[in-house]
Amino acid sequence: MSGEAPSRAANSAPSGGSAAATAASVGGPLLDIAGLDAGYGEMQVLRGVSLVVRPAEIVAMVGGNGAGKTTLLRAISRLISSRGNIAFDGRALPATADDVFAAGLVQVPEGRQLFDRMSVEENLRMGAYRRRDTSAIAEDLERMYGIFPRLADRRRQIAGSMSGGEQQMCAMARAMMARPRLMMVDEMSLGLAPVIVDLLLETMTRIRAEGVTVLLVEQDVHAALSVADRGYVMETGEIVREGTARSLESDPEVQRAYLGDVTGGD
Ligand SMILES: Nc1ncnc2c1ncn2[C@@H]1O[C@H](COP(=O)(O)OP(=O)(O)O)[C@@H](O)[C@H]1O
Ligand SMILES: [Mg+2]
Repeated sequence: MSGEAPSRAANSAPSGGSAAATAASVGGPLLDIAGLDAGYGEMQVLRGVSLVVRPAEIVAMVGGNGAGKTTLLRAISRLISSRGNIAFDGRALPATADDVFAAGLVQVPEGRQLFDRMSVEENLRMGAYRRRDTSAIAEDLERMYGIFPRLADRRRQIAGSMSGGEQQMCAMARAMMARPRLMMVDEMSLGLAPVIVDLLLETMTRIRAEGVTVLLVEQDVHAALSVADRGYVMETGEIVREGTARSLESDPEVQRAYLGDVTGGD
């Protein structure tokens, strides 16, 4: 397989991508979730969640605090058990967290969860810990410093000593070092200044240009929809709205509930 976007896919995921035509490469969704239920012990959180993420899309999953967004990511990453169907690239998603990661599905967790006492570069190298292609890892490091110039200036700095925005960049770059096919970012903008959020949102489009599909999980509905192609709105564990980012932004209900449009509507 050579040429166009999948040229990277052939050697991207550590063991996931095969050279054969994949569902995604022939126009099917990359991630296809149907009727997902999940929760914690007796408490059901997700109720019949269905969504698709197509190759090279940026898809936003938005909703208020406690809606179930992180629970969805945990279920997709196989960190908690779930019922329902999850297909990745046309096949059943692997059953264990390790195998999901190896298939190219990588999460940037809420709160970054960096190795605080390690340097930026050590954190980035941790993202590639499953890879054995040493020279490609070195190239990817430089590529990350191109996408995140602030990290290039701080490659020897201890990650825990950086600003929240820089730590978020480091977490995203670390995820990219795994050469993911789908990157799921949980609350990227939480607690960050608007100017930093804008910078990170611009970076999302660069990440997509690298051939990585993105699922952006956000309480900041405006930020997420500003960069997404399509979006879903989750409330109390259910998808209550879906559509193009533009249609959701102009949806009066979405505006009233999430976009602080106190003057609009009636
Ligand atoms: N580890 C957990 N154990 C029990 N309940 C949890 C746990 N994590 C989250 N919850 C509950 O699940 C619901 C959804 O939470 P979460 O998925 O974190 O929402 P969001 O990410 O949209 O803010 C909330 O009611 C929350 O209290
Ligand atoms: Mg959350």
